[in-house]
Amino acid sequence: MDNQAWHQRFVLQSLWTKQLRNYLLNQINLDSNSKILEVGSGTGALLSENLAISQHVFGIDFDHARNIYAKTLVFDLNLSTADAYQLPFPNNSFDFCFCHYLLLWLKHPTDALKEMRRVTRQGGFVIAFAEPDYDARIDYPEIFKEIGTKQNKSLKEQGIQLNTGRRLKELFLAAGFTSLTMGMLSGEWKIPNQQTFDLEWEIISYDLSKTLSQEAISTLEHQAHLAYGQGTALTFIPTFYAIAEVM
Ligand SMILES: C[S@@+](CC[C@H](N)C(=O)[O-])C[C@H]1O[C@@H](n2cnc3c(N)ncnc32)[C@H](O)[C@@H]1O
Repeated sequence: MDNQAWHQRFVLQSLWTKQLRNYLLNQINLDSNSKILEVGSGTGALLSENLAISQHVFGIDFDHARNIYAKTLVFDLNLSTADAYQLPFPNNSFDFCFCHYLLLWLKHPTDALKEMRRVTRQGGFVIAFAEPDYDARIDYPEIFKEIGTKQNKSLKEQGIQLNTGRRLKELFLAAGFTSLTMGMLSGEWKIPNQQTFDLEWEIISYDLSKTLSQEAISTLEHQAHLAYGQGTALTFIPTFYAIAEVM
């Protein structure tokens, strides 16, 4: 997948969590002087909404090509190519530091959270907006269960920690946060349309391509499409958030 396709994927994921982000942002008084950092900012799908709050918006990602792509979309972003384990900022630099679908990719998520705490000032906030728990997924009917099992296998092979969601509070506590709330993104399932199916299937087929042939993927897609068309299909991946004040 090229960066444009990744961006589409990240924008889709950002739509799933938009209401939740608004709810959490309302709890932390940011203003036009607030310094904001996203760790693992990818193609910048979330960063531009923060520019509406403040001009002081920063992102880091260790994928340099993604940073360059993000800059072509929104020129005003302050982006650095850096590792979440070693943030290139002094202590207490930010009022608000967040991540979105990052920790599940990390071998040592607690170390990244420690860094996020270090660069956030006392009284500031750290939020992990969305960390899924693939091990607790519900897929219905049977064909979706089969696809879900295969997708999990593939994600695991890509290095994802499948149960990050349920461990989020544990990870924040281990990183030294003491004032902490963990919660879950709620779900809503409409009668699906073709566009939603296509977008979601693009993600699934990318994940499956790590472990299945194109032919096997096409067969599954066809079966999934039939079930999806009946309007009964359901995929639920519990996705958790954590919000912590730096004490
Ligand atoms: C699933 S993407 C999410 C991107 C963005 N947060 C969003 O939601 O649109 C995760 C991002 O984290 C980045 N990433 C993974 N491990 C990282 C690390 N150790 N340091 C910095 N970035 C990392 C990846 O390059 C990728 O762009």
